[in-house]
Amino acid sequence: MNESTIKIRLMQADDYDAVVGIDEKVLKASRPEYYGTKFEKLFKSKDYLPTSLVAEEEDGTVVGFVMGVLYMGEYGIYQEEATLDTIGVDPDYQRKGVGKQLINEFLDHLKRLGVQKINTLVDWNDSKLIHFFSANQFSPSKSINLERSL
Ligand SMILES: CC(C)(COP(=O)(O)OP(=O)(O)OC[C@H]1O[C@@H](n2cnc3c(N)ncnc32)[C@H](O)[C@@H]1OP(=O)(O)O)[C@@H](O)C(=O)NCCC(=O)NCCS
Repeated sequence: MNESTIKIRLMQADDYDAVVGIDEKVLKASRPEYYGTKFEKLFKSKDYLPTSLVAEEEDGTVVGFVMGVLYMGEYGIYQEEATLDTIGVDPDYQRKGVGKQLINEFLDHLKRLGVQKINTLVDWNDSKLIHFFSANQFSPSKSINLERSL
């Protein structure tokens, strides 16, 4: 496999099994309900514009995905900020530029829709993911997430 053999396309509802499978390989735990809720929201509601993408091999095997949320406000006006919700690349395909290809196409697509800023939440201890986002020109935002245990 090289970068040019990987094709990026819009995610479809029937990519659900592939996405759950990659996530399971990455996290070593299965989260079908979590993705069930996400897919329901993204593919059944008319309030969200399709922004999620998958990366596929020449034979159609899905090897990575990025899920985004772009809420369509009242009167069909898009928000200027979108969220990158989840990204995952099959461990057998990692460190080959697939994640970068997904991010670049994702950002180009959103830019064409008029989005000016993209947010994502990353676990402070997940140095691999922080490194990846930093390599793709993401930087810490000025607002911080506060929490309190009850
Ligand atoms: C993070 C992730 C998406 C990266 O995908 P990828 O296809 O391997 O990334 P790329 O090959 O495009 O890497 C781009 C750059 O990111 C950085 N990077 C990627 N993986 C890295 C790692 N393990 N450690 C340090 N830096 C890393 C590097 O700078 C890399 O460039 P380089 O290979 O030229 O050094 C992938 O490792 C993944 O799916 N991780 C699990 C994410 C996760 O937990 N998702 C589920 C919950 S949100």
